Amino acid sequence: MFYLTTAIDYTNGAPHIGHAYEKVLADVIIRYRRLRGEEAYFLTGVDQHGQKVQQTAEKEGVHPATFVKRTTRKFLKLWEKLGVHYDGWAETTDPRHIACVQSILNALQQSGQLYKKTHSGHYSVRQEQFLQDRDRDESGNFGPQWGEVTVIEEENWYFRLSDHTAWLKDFIENNPDVITPAFRKAELLNALERSIGTDLCISRPKERLRWGIELPFDSNYVTYVWFDALINYISFAGYHAAPDAGLPDFDKLWNVGGRRATNLIGKDILVPAHGIYWLCMLHAMGFADAHIPRLLVHGFWNSKGGDKLSKSTGNIVDPDALADTFGVDALRYYLVRDIVTGKDSDFDLERLIMLFNTELANELGNLCNRALNMSQRFTAGILHHGAPLTADDEALQASLTESTAAYQAAMDECDVSHALEAISRHVVHCNGYAERMKPWELNKDPANAERLATVLYHLAESVAHAAVLLSPVLPDAAAKLAAQLNLPSLTTIKLADLRWGLLPDGHAIGKPKPVFPRIVVEE
Ligand code: ME8
Ligand code: MG
Repeated sequence: MFYLTTAIDYTNGAPHIGHAYEKVLADVIIRYRRLRGEEAYFLTGVDQHGQKVQQTAEKEGVHPATFVKRTTRKFLKLWEKLGVHYDGWAETTDPRHIACVQSILNALQQSGQLYKKTHSGHYSVRQEQFLQDRDRDESGNFGPQWGEVTVIEEENWYFRLSDHTAWLKDFIENNPDVITPAFRKAELLNALERSIGTDLCISRPKERLRWGIELPFDSNYVTYVWFDALINYISFAGYHAAPDAGLPDFDKLWNVGGRRATNLIGKDILVPAHGIYWLCMLHAMGFADAHIPRLLVHGFWNSKGGDKLSKSTGNIVDPDALADTFGVDALRYYLVRDIVTGKDSDFDLERLIMLFNTELANELGNLCNRALNMSQRFTAGILHHGAPLTADDEALQASLTESTAAYQAAMDECDVSHALEAISRHVVHCNGYAERMKPWELNKDPANAERLATVLYHLAESVAHAAVLLSPVLPDAAAKLAAQLNLPSLTTIKLADLRWGLLPDGHAIGKPKPVFPRIVVEE
């Protein structure tokens, strides 16, 4: 079982391009695992509690519950529009999640992992958090970003994080597969070094935060939002759930067949939330090392010039509007084509248009049109394997073999960009082949009938393979191509079926209809 989760998105605003990227990437990875013939389960959802939501709701003058219902709908609508198909949907206000968080808190409390203490320290009213010495600037002051800073004394509940940091250090060092990409490991180990000896405050007094999950053993407090949110990965997988809760069977999702669950997250929430808090929480709950999830860390889309595309800078790209303007295919393709998983990239509309027009409208669109159109006109839509093969035919088949292997190697590493590049390489090869073989010339002399059929077959067979390989990224477009080729439903074709001869000798194909209309930009 390939169990994949994404971060759950804050519902204090509308979805932005970073959210869309992560969910499309997860959707592509899941579709690819199924193409590989594996069982896969995809959980995503929304993070509805916490300070940010309470504040935004207050500003808008509505109850936080009403507010999150409204924003959650925007996420649901966007995933539907973008073809993000999840199997499980996590909302942290779901009573089943609340019950799970409370049962975990009770268990940790009973095993002595939680304690109450008074903390006195500098507190930022604006950021609603206690400050540490490391938050001071070079001159020793708390900078303007913290707003008014006062010294307050507050009693709270703490989780004995420090009991688990030695284990975590050892675990990370001995299990290199747990943090992907590997270069993030050093960042985590450094942060771990700095956090040794400190415990995690997991409560907020209700006087300053009401919008959260009540501590089951102390009703004056709600649970710290991260402690609540992280648990979604197991609560919605059925951990501690009643059999009739309508949730999956935890043992059928988590670590089945020795495969770790994968938590896909952005680089900003590796340290400390996932890399330290989450892994230590699981260890404290009694999860064995083999049952600790893998953290797959993706990079950020930045605005051109390197700024963060975050809400605070006001520079936010609206994925919903982009899908309306350029189409879902162009957006999905761009989001996974122009960024290497793990690295950052600049969001650039000109590149979105260029990549769609070049690789899909021109190269692939042209190949599809040629293959189908000429087969219809010259061989009445019937494909013949033909014979004998020339060096050009063999080179085309070798190109397909190479591209498919490169695609698979890249996709196995969740490197969608290089996988798409591999498909494109073969498509370009095919168009070059068509131009050299000139089927339109071959058609002029009936003596060339066998050669003509062989050439057209090589083109059509290549389109069939390309449709299957593209299907995780562009499921709708791939399905249209498959239908035009009269291929069986793409869900029945697996990666292992991709041998030369997918389209049998004598196969009848359909008529070409453009699948990738060029994006025309009005000046
Ligand atoms: O962090 N590019 O929620 P969130 C790529 N609720 N990814 C980006 C991005 C960008 N410009 N901006 C944000 C939270 N993300 C918590 C998570 S998980 C138990 C709780 C990614 O709405 C970000 O890295 O701020 C994270 O993975 C996801 O979007 C949600 O971010
Ligand atoms: Mg964030």
